[in-house]
Amino acid sequence: MMRWVSLAAVAALIGAVAATPARANEEIALPHQNWSFAGPFGTFDRAAAQRGFQVYKEVCSACHSMKLAYYRDLTGIGLSEAQIAAVAASVTVPDTDDDGAAIDRPALPSDHFRSPFANEKAARAANNGAAPPDLSLIIKARDGGADYLYALLTGFSAAPSTMKMGDGMNYNKYYPGNQIGMVAPLSEGRVTYADGTPASVNQMAKDVTTFLAYISEPETEMRKALGVKVVLFFLLMTCVTYAVKRKIWADVDH
Ligand code: HEC
Repeated sequence: MMRWVSLAAVAALIGAVAATPARANEEIALPHQNWSFAGPFGTFDRAAAQRGFQVYKEVCSACHSMKLAYYRDLTGIGLSEAQIAAVAASVTVPDTDDDGAAIDRPALPSDHFRSPFANEKAARAANNGAAPPDLSLIIKARDGGADYLYALLTGFSAAPSTMKMGDGMNYNKYYPGNQIGMVAPLSEGRVTYADGTPASVNQMAKDVTTFLAYISEPETEMRKALGVKVVLFFLLMTCVTYAVKRKIWADVDH
């Protein structure tokens, strides 16, 4: 009896593991992009991530918070301490002074990124009732991850004439249900890149996705590098123990 119960439990477990998370609109496959940060040896393309930060700062941050990220996290995409201090100082964040009174002060590298709205109600009120989600972990929070975000940002177009659109809704090929409360945030030349890269919609989408992938897991490169070192260490130890074993048993007749 027990055996059958545990067998059933194992079968259920295998079933649960095998079932990949389903996306709400499965019928549309996400186009697959080549991300610099994919795979066990992947690293973040620093130039792309810096351009992506510019896109977040100049476009997305008007509506989306990134509450879990700190300004100091920007070291990981190659900004110097002075650059980070300048980025932080360019915004003011709410704080309290020594007497407990509410004040605004310039942000420090140790501060979280400033949120555009005081709370979710204010965010909804400013966005036609739809709350823009926090982007700190958005790459991990959506099935399809980076491919989904890129597809979403490049998936806006006019709605098919057969589709009845809700009030204030915009057609998006990849958003579940195809109606999203966000207006297409990117358009050709929306930002002017400091490094002269032409700011096409695809380019900006790719860059901001790279940046948000970094923000969702700033320690990923270190983790991968450590993994490689650990594997090399064990390979070396295998060779050493094998050599030692041969030496110790060399005199024993077979
Ligand atoms: C003018 C405000 C505004 C701007 C600017 C804006 N968004 Fe949004 N965004 C929204 C709103 C509102 C929603 C919620 C839509 C809904 O729930 O229907 C949203 C939703 C999203 C979602 C969630 C989609 C999902 O699967 O649930 C992502 C991801 C996103 N935005 C990314 C971005 C990025 C990246 C940028 C910058 C390139 C950006 N947004 C710029 C208002 C904005």
